[in-house]
Amino acid sequence: MAEHERDVVSPDADLDERALEGALRPKRLEDFVGQERVREQLSLVLRGAQRRGRAPDHVLMSGGPGLGKTTLAMIIAAELGAPLRITSGPAIERSGDLAAVLSTLQEGEVLFLDEIHRMARPAEEMLYVAMEDFRVDVVVGKGPGATAIPLDIAPFTLVGATTRAGLLPAPLRDRFGFTAHMDFYRADELELILRRSAGLLGAHLDDDAAVEIAGRSRGTPRIANRLLRRVRDYAEVRGDGRLTLDIAHAALSLYEVDAQGLDRLDRAVLDALLRRFRGGPVGLSTLAVSVGEEPETVEVVAEPFLVRSGFIARTPRGRVATPEAWSHMGLAAPPDAAFGAGVPADGTATAPAGP
Ligand SMILES: Nc1ncnc2c1ncn2[C@@H]1O[C@H](COP(=O)(O)OP(=O)(O)OP(=O)(O)O)[C@@H](O)[C@H]1O
Ligand SMILES: [Mg+2]
Repeated sequence: MAEHERDVVSPDADLDERALEGALRPKRLEDFVGQERVREQLSLVLRGAQRRGRAPDHVLMSGGPGLGKTTLAMIIAAELGAPLRITSGPAIERSGDLAAVLSTLQEGEVLFLDEIHRMARPAEEMLYVAMEDFRVDVVVGKGPGATAIPLDIAPFTLVGATTRAGLLPAPLRDRFGFTAHMDFYRADELELILRRSAGLLGAHLDDDAAVEIAGRSRGTPRIANRLLRRVRDYAEVRGDGRLTLDIAHAALSLYEVDAQGLDRLDRAVLDALLRRFRGGPVGLSTLAVSVGEEPETVEVVAEPFLVRSGFIARTPRGRVATPEAWSHMGLAAPPDAAFGAGVPADGTATAPAGP
């Protein structure tokens, strides 16, 4: 990807940002904003297990980056009053790595396995058995003489997180008693998150500024918190420290995040699609060339949000701009624009981005 300042609306976080995020994480279920259904379902699963005095079912959390999977995993352990062990798919390169973790779990411990879809294949089978029977088969010796010695392990609760649930083999998916699907957040939920974060940061955030930042956060708490930090910097350096609507506008336009949360690359893609290709249809690689990017960058970095927001539709003949794209970019659609010629304006867009 080219070196434009993509990070400000990227849903991913680097290590430095992850360290900052720790301070803003809600610690209990009641402080976790939004995802009402998931929260209610999870609360029942946890309470039910506590009443029976047993470890709850294994929980799988699926959803995009920055939507709160790690936060929820920590909350599960806190709600159960159980110790938490954290590992991740990439850290488990062979089954021995997993055996070492499983065999040292305490009774009732919560094992958080982040990026579970990236775990080594041989370890997956070991995990099936551990999840179902709380047993690990330790292989001793090599070749034809090797024997598997079953070893009992303490009953535990596995909390798996994945951004790619579709990559999990069915037998693994089936062994989770409960799957939490994390969705994008509504603007009013993001406002609450922003108010809470501002409180924790000791920043004074005006209500209309919270609304403004929420609307540009692409449905993602991580992005909301990041934009809040940028606005706070601006307020401290160029203002009196107070996060007002004017300060929010100025800061966000400095970072080139527009009213719908589109950044420079998103707008460049839309602009090319509208002006050069009259709204399409146009092939991905042609579109990418015209904005000076690799097709993959356009497809992976810009397009998903443009499609989700209902600005671009993917059709068999190529990418097509919707009427919303024309109006968002302040342009009039030509009378022969493709969406008027039999291509549904909403195309394959899954859901509107919300207000
Ligand atoms: N429901 C929520 N309420 C308040 N803050 C939230 C919520 N969800 C996420 N956050 C905040 O957003 C940030 C990112 O959340 P988290 O690390 O849990 O995302 P994630 O889904 O694990 O992302 P990744 O897939 O990149 O690991 C954290 O700072 C967290 O405090
Ligand atoms: Mg995470």
